[in-house]
Parts: sequence; C-alpha cells; structure tokens
Amino acid sequence: MIVGIDIGSTTTKAVAVETAQGFPVIRKIKTRAADAVTSATGAFGKMIVENNIRMTDIERIMITGAGAGSLKNDLFGIATEKVDEIQAVGIGGMFLAGKENIIITNIGTGTAIIDARRDSIRHLGGTGVGGGTIQGLAKKLLPTSDFNSIMALAETGNLNQVDLRLEDIMESDISFLNKESTASNFGKMLDSARSGDIALGILNMVYQVIGMLSVFAAKSRNTDRVVVTGNGSDNSIGKAVLSVITGMHQVHFEYPKDAAYTTAIGAALSR
Ligand SMILES: Nc1ncnc2c1ncn2[C@@H]1O[C@H](COP(=O)(O)OP(=O)(O)OP(=O)(O)O)[C@@H](O)[C@H]1O
Ligand SMILES: [Mg+2]
Repeated sequence: MIVGIDIGSTTTKAVAVETAQGFPVIRKIKTRAADAVTSATGAFGKMIVENNIRMTDIERIMITGAGAGSLKNDLFGIATEKVDEIQAVGIGGMFLAGKENIIITNIGTGTAIIDARRDSIRHLGGTGVGGGTIQGLAKKLLPTSDFNSIMALAETGNLNQVDLRLEDIMESDISFLNKESTASNFGKMLDSARSGDIALGILNMVYQVIGMLSVFAAKSRNTDRVVVTGNGSDNSIGKAVLSVITGMHQVHFEYPKDAAYTTAIGAALSR
C-alpha cells in the first residue's frame, strides 16, 4: 500500500492506494491544521485508524503540496518521498478523468492550470484567484466566511445588483455575449446590494476568471475539454458559471469523482 499526502496551503489530504489488485483502492481523509507537520501526521494517523490499516502494510509515503518541505525525514519509520506538485496534479487528474492529453484546472486556495500528457506534464500558468479569494473577500464583505454559509447567501443573490452588465451600457449584444453577460465584475455595486448579492458576485468573479483562463489554455492546446479538480471543483454556483462559459466558448468542463483528492492521489501514483 502506498500513502499519498498533499499538504495544501489550506487543507491537507491523505489517501491510501492499494495497487496489489492492479486497480487502486483509494481511502481518503481531509484535515485542516495550523501547521504542515501537524496536519500531515494527523491526516495520516486518522486514515490508519479509521481504515484499520497496518503500518507494516505501507510501503512508502509520497508527499506533495505547498507544505511538503516541512517533512524532511521518515514518518513513523516509513520511508517518505517528495513529489513535485504539478506532476502530482497531472498524474492524479489523468487517473481520475480516465484519460490522457487533458488540461487540468486545479482550484485550491489558488488556481493552477496544467497540460497533462502521458510523457509530459507541464504547468501552463494559473491565477491567485481561487478558493482563498472567496474566503478572504467574504471575511471583510460578508457577515460570514464559512463556506456553506457563503453558498447559502449566494443562492439568494442577484448579480444585477453588483455586476455591470452589457445591457447597462449598450443596446445590443456584442459578438457571442448576450445582454446579461458581465461587462465589469463589481462594476455596478448598487447601494442597495445585499450580502447575498455580494456573495454571488464574488463566486461569479472567481469562476469567470478561472473559466476564461481555462478556455484560453484549452484553445492554446487545441482541446475543448478541461478537467476541474481541487476543493473548488465541488461548487454548484461555480459549475453554473463555467457552464455559461461552455455555451459561449465550446470548452467543456468535467468534474471527476474525488477531485478534491487529485493531488494526493497523483502523489501516491507517482513513480
Ligand atoms: N465548495 C467549495 N467551493 C469553492 N471553494 C471551496 C469549497 N470548499 C472549500 N473551498 C476552498 O477551497 C480551498 C481549499 O482547497 P484545496 O484543499 O483544494 O486547496 P489547497 O490544496 O489547500 O491549496 P493549494 O492547492 O492552492 O495550495 C479553500 O480556500 C476553501 O476556501
Ligand atoms: Mg492543492
């Protein structure tokens, strides 16, 4: 059995992959702690205990993510190895999507866009706009920074209160944009805007930025498929924003199961 640990900038994910039967069985754990070592050992320990895994069955521990540098030695007597985070996202994304030659948009605290092929995994770029942006802006602009509460607020929101839309500034559609398209995120910001409107405006902005960067990345690689991973891939409003982008640009977004664990799974499957 191989354990993959992804010490992300916000959450730590651990998976156990059993390769003996030829197809990996994946057990997953997600934790959050103040420092990298505590969250990594915590996630590892929780997974061992909850799944009745014997330490002697673990061949090695593959570590990746922003905090990977903090774990320098063996962990509880088991050999550890570092895996480059971009490689891990690429390998995990191809595994979960069940195919090669894909663009992966990993929405974590920030967002990375990766071109993943069987023989080369390349970081195309990304944006600091991601899950951290949603929570950071929420902290000052909304009465809550709890994710479920942000989502509940946004469900009640009206984008017309915060975004400047095409219909606000012109009479007709412009190329493939319709009158409801955003001309400027938060470019209107009416005094009457309520928390729900602002919550929706934040989510809309974050996923529009990520979606459009993904479109340009996909087009630059002559593909029309983007696999979305990371904790930010599981967001109903985000998915709705991305589907509007699909309608305009014919680039399709896919959401594999267990996508929050992509990087940890990729680390475990590296080598
Ligand atoms: N349903 C959700 N939709 C969007 N974002 C979410 C959701 N749930 C949590 N988040 C955000 O996801 C981020 C954490 O995601 P993830 O665990 O994939 O990132 P990370 O690996 O810690 O960060 P990074 O990969 O950028 O170093 C947090 O910023 C959190 O606010
Ligand atoms: Mg991550």
